[in-house]
Order: sequence, then structure tokens, then C-alpha cells
Amino acid sequence: MYPITEKRMLREDTLILRVKAPHLINSKAGQYALIQHSHHSEPIPLSILEVEGEEVSFLVKVVGRTTMELREEANQIFYVAGPLGLPFPIRHYGKVVFFTKDWGISPALSVAEYLKKENNSLELYHISEDGFLPLRDKVESLFERVIVSKEIDKVGADLIVSVGSNRLSREVHRLNQGKDHIAMVNTHILDAVGLCLVCRVLVDGSMKLACCDGPWFPADKVDWDHLISREELFLEQEKLALEEYKKLLKRKELRKTSTEV
Ligand code: FES
Repeated sequence: MYPITEKRMLREDTLILRVKAPHLINSKAGQYALIQHSHHSEPIPLSILEVEGEEVSFLVKVVGRTTMELREEANQIFYVAGPLGLPFPIRHYGKVVFFTKDWGISPALSVAEYLKKENNSLELYHISEDGFLPLRDKVESLFERVIVSKEIDKVGADLIVSVGSNRLSREVHRLNQGKDHIAMVNTHILDAVGLCLVCRVLVDGSMKLACCDGPWFPADKVDWDHLISREELFLEQEKLALEEYKKLLKRKELRKTSTEV
């Protein structure tokens, strides 16, 4: 078991988890860990935000059952594997423009810290309907220009990086054709060692595995339409799992109230 040493709410659907996991301390830019809250929980990939001593932090956006379990009940984690995935290719590019959405700010911060050391100039467009930018202070201390917007636009850049949503990356790529663009793909991750094939992605016409060949790929080589259609295969089951969990929480709350009376 891996103890959670801090659980900090940024707002109702977004939190920072700090976990004691000494085996993750050598993680590199843009890598992730596979987290399983309990024996029965679904394993989910979480990007590594920061490493401090033997502790690692993650930014969690509450979107389904597993992330809600982490918010509501977790005080330790049953299984933490990693660091996983190929690191982001760090070097001097020149002007690097990031497009992020939701939790995408976490891998963006991890990658940006390394890119800054290579003297890249950094800009960030965070796409948000309600103007919320997680970890705003940290973001503003790292990026020279930060724009929170509802719209994705064309930009001038030596490299574009997009992360947080496949739809976001598809749109950024559509508007910025011909520019160097590295994107993180979102897929389900089950074993993270290349056996289950659930994370397969079509890249340049060949099958690649997001868990170990990725998660970073050249955006112009990814078949985004295929990826997005596969991502939506499990929507119904995910909705049902979340509804069931909400009922379970309600029953637990009722039991607690009745024993208190
Ligand atoms: S998660 Fe199973 S092969 Fe990638």
C-alpha cells in the first residue's frame, strides 16, 4: 500500500494527490504512473506532476468512478506502477506553444519545466469553458505568456504541444497544419506493459501502444478520428459504473447518519 500524504482540493472536481512512492522518484518529463485505488478498482494512468523526496504528486480531474473514489475515500493506494511511457523529447526547439485542457496542465507543467532548462520560450493556451486554470500560480511562474480561452486558434511556434483531450489535439492539428506538433494521446490503459492491446493507436498507418510507445506522438501521424471513436466505446459502461458508485456512497452516508442518531 502507498500512503496518500496530501489530498488538496483545487475545486470540487479537481484535486492534487501526493503519494509516497519512492520507486517513481526518477521519473522523467511527461511520464505517468498507473494507479489502482483498491483491489477492485479500475487502474488509471495519471501523469506525474512533481517529485519531491520520496513523494510524487498527481493532478486528478474527477470524471468517473475511479477518480471519484480517489476524491471520496482514498487515504492510501493499493497499487502504483511506474514511471511509465517514453519521456517527452526534451531539447532546444525555440518557441514552444502548449495547448492544454483540464488535467492536461499536469503533464504540460512537467514537460515545460524541462524545456525551460533548455532555454525554450514557453506560451500556454488553456482551453476552458469557465475560465478555470488549475495551479495558476505555478503555471504563470513557468510560462512567459498564459491565455485562458474557449477557442483554439492558429499560432506561430517552432513546436506545438497539446495535451488533455484527443479532440483538443485533433483540432489544434487541423488549425496548425504543417507545424511541428507533439501530442499526448488519451487511451484506456490496463496493464501498461504491452500485453492487453487496449491502448492501441494508429500512428502513420501502424499500430502503436500508447502505454509503452507513447503517450507522446507526432500529431500529424496520429489517426485522431479512429482514436476518438475507440475512446467512446466504453462511455455507457463508464456512466453506469459512476451511477452505481454514487448510489453506494449514498447508502454509506445513510448508514453513517443512522448510526450517529
Ligand atoms: S495498456 Fe495494455 S498494451 Fe498498453
